[in-house]
Amino acid sequence: MKREGAAPARAPATEQMNQQSTIMNAPAAKALPDAQTVTSVRHWTDRLFSFRVTRPRSLRFRSGEFVMIGLMGENGKPLLRAYSIASPSWDEELEFYSIKVPDGPLTSRLQHIQPGDEIILRPKPVGTLVLDALLPGKRLWLFATGTGIAPFASIVRDPETYERYDEVILMHTCRDAAELDYGRELVESLPEDPLIGEFVGDKLKYYPTTTREESPRMGRITDNLKSGKVFADIGTPPISPETDRAMVCGSLAFNHDMKAILEGYGLREGANSDPAEYVVEKAFVD
Ligand code: A2P
Repeated sequence: MKREGAAPARAPATEQMNQQSTIMNAPAAKALPDAQTVTSVRHWTDRLFSFRVTRPRSLRFRSGEFVMIGLMGENGKPLLRAYSIASPSWDEELEFYSIKVPDGPLTSRLQHIQPGDEIILRPKPVGTLVLDALLPGKRLWLFATGTGIAPFASIVRDPETYERYDEVILMHTCRDAAELDYGRELVESLPEDPLIGEFVGDKLKYYPTTTREESPRMGRITDNLKSGKVFADIGTPPISPETDRAMVCGSLAFNHDMKAILEGYGLREGANSDPAEYVVEKAFVD
């Protein structure tokens, strides 16, 4: 299935023309190992971008997993980092969401990719942010900071998520409002999505907050849980191990603080081999 809606819609005309000329003038494909071709790139802020690449025919993955992707290093060795696959498992292409670190070994170069360019993608998906690592429950909480939303961009587009849970609550926190755009646009597109819309229905609740720029909802996820504000705002009872399951993806400090909060509610950490009530993974940082 191809998702037409995910094209780089906002690219200005000049940028699109540049992208086209890049394709037309592209040199003959280099012999990269595990090469995949970039199909679109979208820059969300000066710190964030998303891109889509061709999907190897043989690649099967579970929503929420990550793969190693990268570019050939100057020393002739592949320079690879772990990236969550942001697209759902039924998508024909693969989507990734990345930070741009000015002096980051990979992202300082990766941020300049254009449609037609090739990246390296090792087709060996792994990860703990998968539905199978959680015991059955009624509500699924997805807690993300920054680019930690990437695996959840896959999970909220997976029909199985809505088959397993009555309610899915996505909390995403960034410093500034513009950094929420990728997630907000995705969530807003889902009810009307011809492929996934009817599964989503009204089950997905979205709770975005900023911490450094004024916006309608503010505060760290940790603080909004501890104060009970999020439960009051969305009108749900507090998290309990009987009904609630959770996935956490953000910085080390965020993951650490979230673990303590979830354990405080009585949830236990699960794994593929030993499903329980919550799972955690570190977001990619270059
Ligand atoms: P804050 O602005 O209060 O530091 P970053 O851009 O540094 O990766 O942070 C992304 C978001 O995660 C920011 O809104 C930041 O809030 C928040 N954050 C960082 N550390 C924690 C933490 N330990 N617990 C909760 N939120 C955090």
